[in-house]
Amino acid sequence: MCGIVGYVGGRPCKELLLTGLERLEYRGYDSAGICLINGRADITRRVGKVAVLRDAVGTSAHPATTGLAHTRWATHGGVIEANAHPIEACEGSGVTVVHNGIIENYAALRRELSEAGHVYHSDTDTEAIAHLVEECYSGDLVEAVHKAYQRLDGHFAFAVAHRDSPGVLVAARRGCPLVVGVGEGEMFMASAIPAFLAETRKVQHVFDDEIVVARTDGATFLSGDGTPIEREVQEVEWDDDAAEKQGYETFMLKEIWEQPDAIAQTIGERLYHGQLQLDGLNLSDEQVRGLSRIVFLACGTSYHAGLVGRYLLEEWARIPSESDIASEWRYRRPVIDRNTLVIAIAQSGETIDTLAAMKEARACGAHVLAVTNVMGSQMTRECDSVLYTRAGLEIGVAASKTFTAQLTLLYLLALRLGTIRGTLTGERAETLLAQVRSLPDLVRSTLERGELVEPIADRFARNEFFLYLGRNIGLPIALEGALKLKEISYIATDAYAAGEMKHGPIALLDDSTPVVVIATDGHVYEKVVSNIEEVRARGAHVIAVATEGNEGIRDLAEHVLYLPRTEPELQPVLAVLPLQQLAYAIATRRGLDVDKPRNLAKTVTVE
Ligand code: F6R
Repeated sequence: MCGIVGYVGGRPCKELLLTGLERLEYRGYDSAGICLINGRADITRRVGKVAVLRDAVGTSAHPATTGLAHTRWATHGGVIEANAHPIEACEGSGVTVVHNGIIENYAALRRELSEAGHVYHSDTDTEAIAHLVEECYSGDLVEAVHKAYQRLDGHFAFAVAHRDSPGVLVAARRGCPLVVGVGEGEMFMASAIPAFLAETRKVQHVFDDEIVVARTDGATFLSGDGTPIEREVQEVEWDDDAAEKQGYETFMLKEIWEQPDAIAQTIGERLYHGQLQLDGLNLSDEQVRGLSRIVFLACGTSYHAGLVGRYLLEEWARIPSESDIASEWRYRRPVIDRNTLVIAIAQSGETIDTLAAMKEARACGAHVLAVTNVMGSQMTRECDSVLYTRAGLEIGVAASKTFTAQLTLLYLLALRLGTIRGTLTGERAETLLAQVRSLPDLVRSTLERGELVEPIADRFARNEFFLYLGRNIGLPIALEGALKLKEISYIATDAYAAGEMKHGPIALLDDSTPVVVIATDGHVYEKVVSNIEEVRARGAHVIAVATEGNEGIRDLAEHVLYLPRTEPELQPVLAVLPLQQLAYAIATRRGLDVDKPRNLAKTVTVE
């Protein structure tokens, strides 16, 4: 939520900042702004996407070699130019701020600073930071930011520039992402690495409750109490091509097609001479055998991955498992102990509710395993074990390849735990591992059937409601398919356990309703067929996702999306693919921007 970019160096930075913003636009696109420091602070802000800002600043060169930029996902204050960042303190003060997160005590600070004579121009919580820095400034920007930071409550990452301090940017972080890019005689600051990936792959992570001072020749890190900290420079593996569409019409389409690779990479990491090893899982075999419970915690699509994980861990490792939404679980009084394994899943590694739930779980003594796609992200520092998905950079706001990579990792985890606990025989584990290894090919061949969704999209793109049904391990996929459709096409969807439909949602059905049913082969297939009959009896239109070779389903469904045959537990990875493609086909027919659905942001750093 919100993207910050900063530059200090020897090059004119206007274009570098705009390009950085374009790379971070997935974090929010309500408004965008830029501040160029060159004897004065030249600020331009616009409501709308970065393209609107780009038009406003024009193509003429600007000499500034220090600057800040921001793309906003609105929290405090409406989507108007006055609330766009960079936010200035009082006119003429020279202080400008860009911010991601929430300042919880902004109202009290506003009262205090207004009484002290500060004049506010916006409704944002961010403006409290700007006036506080101004209030604390007496010629030393680092000292001013340090003092201001100590007065702030909430979770945030912010960066400050001062008209009178060209060549310096000062930033602070508590709970929201911030990373430094190390160039030759130049430094970048950003909410995420893609912002500067075209310029450098060398990074320094900023940790919670740290202040970072970037100058042309390097960055200095300070703890909250002002103690200097050494921070190593790391090289990231991603290359800048990942941040380009490479001929695809959208990032989401590119990422859908990258799924075979994302899965192969996630598996490849863990196989040594054909043997499965999960480096990063810091549990001894004895601890694994002693586990009494597993709790999956996550939000959104990652929550759906956790729901699949629950079936896998119960089925293969015979460990009682549950899955919950992080923002709900953290406010319960959960009963867990040191024999509980909490598996927190987050693509971004920065989702605030998941982070808070992890803290709660650790406080209760559970072992917390983080599953994330982003190295160095906050959750990797707040866990006992970490396993990475290797999906590469995902820019489309709607998750696709990171979901199937998460499922893949959960297969490997369930196989490993099942083997250690002796609930899978060696032979069965080998068969399953062979099937998991065949997933990249199966996924590719499933995606290649993608044109089958086109007639369905043609027929139903103008409908305003879809129902999704699934049972057992098909239910999380019904939920995920429904989420994909609603978030990128703005069509209302409901997803239900098929057996539960008759307890309410069946009232929604009439002869115009498309109903997507996960009807793959397995022990609940006959039950799903009964539910399909119930749908048909109300005149609704069945779109079935079924297993290749099931000819009978053609008599029950108006459209069938076939999947290659595989173990029932592996079907979710395949079943979600036509649902991603269907959502995509419908959204594009409705003329929508699938990469940047309205009101959404990719990394959710507010509660
Ligand atoms: C849906 C989507 C969101 C995220 C959710 C959690 O397509 O992208 O629902 O899944 O915001 O994000 P992470 O996985 O980063 O915690």
